[in-house]
Amino acid sequence: MEDLFLGIETSCDDTSCALYSLDRGVVLHRTAAQLDHRRYGGVVPEIASRSHMRSLLPLYETVMGEAGASLSSLAGIGVTNGPGLTGSLLVGLSFAKALAYGSGRPLVGIHHIEGHILANALEGELELPAIVLVVSGGHTQLVSMERIGRYRVIGSTRDDAAGEAFDKIGKLLGLPFPGGPSVEREARAGNPAAFDFPRGLRRSGDRDFSFSSLKTAVRLKVESLGALTPRLVSDVAASAQEAIVDALLEKSLAAAAETGVRQFYLAGGVAANGRLRERMAAGLGEAGVAVSWPRPVYCTDNAAMIACAACHHIRAGRTDGLELNTFPRGALMSWS
Ligand code: KG4
Ligand code: ZN
Repeated sequence: MEDLFLGIETSCDDTSCALYSLDRGVVLHRTAAQLDHRRYGGVVPEIASRSHMRSLLPLYETVMGEAGASLSSLAGIGVTNGPGLTGSLLVGLSFAKALAYGSGRPLVGIHHIEGHILANALEGELELPAIVLVVSGGHTQLVSMERIGRYRVIGSTRDDAAGEAFDKIGKLLGLPFPGGPSVEREARAGNPAAFDFPRGLRRSGDRDFSFSSLKTAVRLKVESLGALTPRLVSDVAASAQEAIVDALLEKSLAAAAETGVRQFYLAGGVAANGRLRERMAAGLGEAGVAVSWPRPVYCTDNAAMIACAACHHIRAGRTDGLELNTFPRGALMSWS
């Protein structure tokens, strides 16, 4: 019989459930986005936790019902247990533990960043070794990946994450939350060379990132422009997006040159950005490095990537006991 793995993801504001098998890949995946946060212009932790409480059980029942799967026949259950919002993580973890306790099926806690990285494995076999640029609302990291389970963080942001920068710039421009997709949409009609915004840590000589000076520069520019016409909004959006993409590409090129890898992957919500994909493919392609990324629905938070990670952990014999807890912060560690 086919080995089916259940994934549960509730680390931030998306509630997600999925089933994955090594033979068929993603069998079923459902994500419920929380729209209540929009009117606050950011994720409100308590609203997120309560919304996970409402959505998770119906979502699980839908996924299992549509797949015709039974809990007792699952090969294992994977759940994101960090990093993320503690209240949100606790809802998913408690639910997964109850399922594991009731069924006796194996349980494994998955690091959210490993989930994002392995979203690339949902699209086909990984070419390894590789470097993964993880760009989300909470993280901006360059991760050297020797094999599944063997990771080394070779660059990180010193302040804001790339997605956080997009979100803050969206807010400054009065665009709907989350800012990433809104800024990208506005940028399509704008001139990326209209304003010269800072590319943080360009000459730092390492592979780290910084986006706080960009955010300040955009704020000062918006204040100096006065009333924002649609044209100005598009030009600021396009110029800010270009600064973020330039910084990500420059450090990615340096990492590729230093390590000599021939394969790069993008991961995380910002990897859904068309301009980033286009510039990374062209820039790294010129250096002879191939670049791949997951489809947009597997870039942003989803449980398919968690179910896939759980499959690899459990097949390698790595499981957790019912004492498993959440962790709000914590580096990605190797396990194989
Ligand atoms: O991975 P994700 O869903 O959640 C975290 O783990 O943080 O990433 C969410 C982030 C948000 O900051 C959002 O604005 C950004 O990804 N994002 C984008 C795009 N789609 C989502 N940023 C730029 N362009 C996009 N198309
Ligand atoms: Zn994420």
